Amino acid sequence: MRKAFINLSSLLIVVLIISPVMLDAQDLSLPTPMTSGGKPLMDALSERQSSRSFSDRELSLQQLSDLLWAAWGINRPADGKRTAPSSNNRQEMDVYVTLKSGLYLYDANVNMLKQIHDRDIRALTGTQEFPATAPVNLVYVADLTKRGLKEGQTITDADLLSSWANTGFMAQNVYLYCASAGLSTVIRAMVPRQDLAAAMMLKPMQVIILAQTIGYGVK
Ligand SMILES: Cc1cc2nc3c(=O)[nH]c(=O)nc-3n(C[C@H](O)[C@H](O)[C@H](O)COP(=O)(O)O)c2cc1C
Repeated sequence: MRKAFINLSSLLIVVLIISPVMLDAQDLSLPTPMTSGGKPLMDALSERQSSRSFSDRELSLQQLSDLLWAAWGINRPADGKRTAPSSNNRQEMDVYVTLKSGLYLYDANVNMLKQIHDRDIRALTGTQEFPATAPVNLVYVADLTKRGLKEGQTITDADLLSSWANTGFMAQNVYLYCASAGLSTVIRAMVPRQDLAAAMMLKPMQVIILAQTIGYGVK
């Protein structure tokens, strides 16, 4: 009887210890990004282009990890600096990832996709048809609180200038990664911002800048 009690207690302790992990079970842990290799830069620049035909073939987790590192990964861990520049190193941009399995936030510090929810909102990331079926749509979101704005403050176009520039750098990094990796991509401003912000459960000081579709091309 005493032995059974001890076994039950041990089981309870194990469950309590692992339950935080279980709660986050839908987060995606990404493999370490491959930060060298690929096509020579001048070849990738020669092949950079926008494409709007995507197959529904999924990307591997390694491809996802590499592409997110190219977009907004940390390339100087000692001071947390990134593959794309940001004004005054404010790093106000967040990269959200919409997959068939749900909406995720890229956390470069731990190389994970943190799940926001499990709804497929790819169709809401654009007013064109292909985002709905392409495997990956990134949404570049500025968090104006990281630029010093206070909750409730009016956001002006001037407040967003550097976030637009920042997004341009990230998007071009993705273009070059895709050219190197044989993937297709297109950066997109045609985004139903209000509906998408609601579906992403964004806060008022978070602003959608652009979206970008990534996938295999249709031959
Ligand atoms: C700020 C910006 C917004 C864009 N928005 C869209 C868009 O909503 N949909 C789309 O299909 N392409 C969009 N594009 C892609 C352009 O149409 C494309 O870059 C242009 O036709 C040149 O083609 P290339 O990228 O192959 O050189 C956008 C590009 C930029 C820079």
